[in-house]
Amino acid sequence: MSGHNVWTHKGTFLLAAVGSAVGLGNLWRFPYLTGENGGGAFILIYALTIFAVGIPIFIAETMLGRTSRQSPIMGMRHLTKTHKTSRAWESIGWLGAAAAFLILSFYSVIAGWALHYTWLMLTGSLVGADATTISAGFVALLASPGLMTLYHTLFIAFSALIVGLGIHKGIESGLRIMMPALFAILIVVLIYGVINGDVGAAANFLFTFNIADLSLEGWLQAMGQSFFTLSLGMGAIMAYGAYMSSEASLTRTAIAVAFVDTAIAMVAGLAIFSLVFGAGLETDQGPGLMFVTLPLAFADMPFGALVGGVFFILVLGAAISSSISLIEPVAAFLVERFDMTRPQAVTIMVVAAWAMGLLTVVSFNVWAEGTIFHALFERSAFEFIELLTNIFMPLGGLMIALFAGWALTQSEVMKELGTNITWFKTWRLLVRFVGPAAVSFVFLRTIPQVEGYVVPTLGALLIVGVFALSQRLRKSA
Ligand code: PHE
Repeated sequence: MSGHNVWTHKGTFLLAAVGSAVGLGNLWRFPYLTGENGGGAFILIYALTIFAVGIPIFIAETMLGRTSRQSPIMGMRHLTKTHKTSRAWESIGWLGAAAAFLILSFYSVIAGWALHYTWLMLTGSLVGADATTISAGFVALLASPGLMTLYHTLFIAFSALIVGLGIHKGIESGLRIMMPALFAILIVVLIYGVINGDVGAAANFLFTFNIADLSLEGWLQAMGQSFFTLSLGMGAIMAYGAYMSSEASLTRTAIAVAFVDTAIAMVAGLAIFSLVFGAGLETDQGPGLMFVTLPLAFADMPFGALVGGVFFILVLGAAISSSISLIEPVAAFLVERFDMTRPQAVTIMVVAAWAMGLLTVVSFNVWAEGTIFHALFERSAFEFIELLTNIFMPLGGLMIALFAGWALTQSEVMKELGTNITWFKTWRLLVRFVGPAAVSFVFLRTIPQVEGYVVPTLGALLIVGVFALSQRLRKSA
């Protein structure tokens, strides 16, 4: 098999998967979604989805990577041949590559904002600043395509450098330094939040489960977020899984990743909301929570500039360890398929995603309105790209669950899982039915035009369709 690399240690996959999972999703998106959706109830749904749907699909995705030992596209091509299923299942790989490319394009722009704030914090520019000044600063950043492009370029180039160095010298060594540092910083920020903020109010906000507070939209966002945060459904986990030691346990690893990822989101939430409540600020500021509300909290606190700077370094590090996992699946494919060198492959992927990222940059200023995207889809290019990835990721997750659940044989799965028949049966039930049903539900709701009674009808139809399809998949397997 071409390009058959394996991580240096049995536990490296865990490190890499945690690096991929923990990112802007945990530190930026999770807190603001929780804030917008009223706290604890949102978290409850989020955690339930992670454990009932996320973990089984995570296992499925790693399994497809490890059995094929190739990049997602080539791996799926191989599996469709060896399992005599339709070649259409190869689209798991292609869909994933498209999603990785699209996510990377905007992820890098948003991580670029964190670069800007690291700089502002460390230079002490925001010390003592008031609310008007700080929000005007964020508005000014968004209004400047030049500045945003500069940060976007720096961020994506640095990520490219790490992946370009290869999975051992680049990704593994990078993660070995970055991940422990990130955990240490997070703890420092938490302690700082506890001392200077209102941790009681934060805990109360995060852990009071009042399910009536949650809108249907909130439910769906919670489920969508659990896919995004685990990096599921777009080949990142499959690509890393291809390098996973055969000895490592799929189940234990998946549980560990989900656990660490959730714990980090909670700790970040606790730290951020302690500061926000401590400074008497609002929780429902949306995407601006990290870039406006939080700097405002730091502005008036002792050592705020320093701790704020360190906090944004944490954000940057977490974003880099995720963005490298967005580059890897496509780069590995280009190396395997076209015999490119790794630097060539990484350059192609990154230059293309960089150019695509310019669409996100201008969506906040020169193309903020009146473009073809607004005319056709009633949203900016950035929002359109985000919507596409919100469709591709669940769709990819759905297909991964179906393929692993129905096409792989029992003996193969038992060998990969390496556990008893009870867990095998439970897992298979989860990936055959529970996961696909839940995902179809989320997936349909991401299409804004589909509303009201149309949703349950389409949902039911989709589930029936999925079931019919699975039956065919099994027969041909
Ligand atoms: N899981 C990452 C985060 O939470 C985002 C991501 C999604 C990374 C998909 C890789 C693949 O920020």
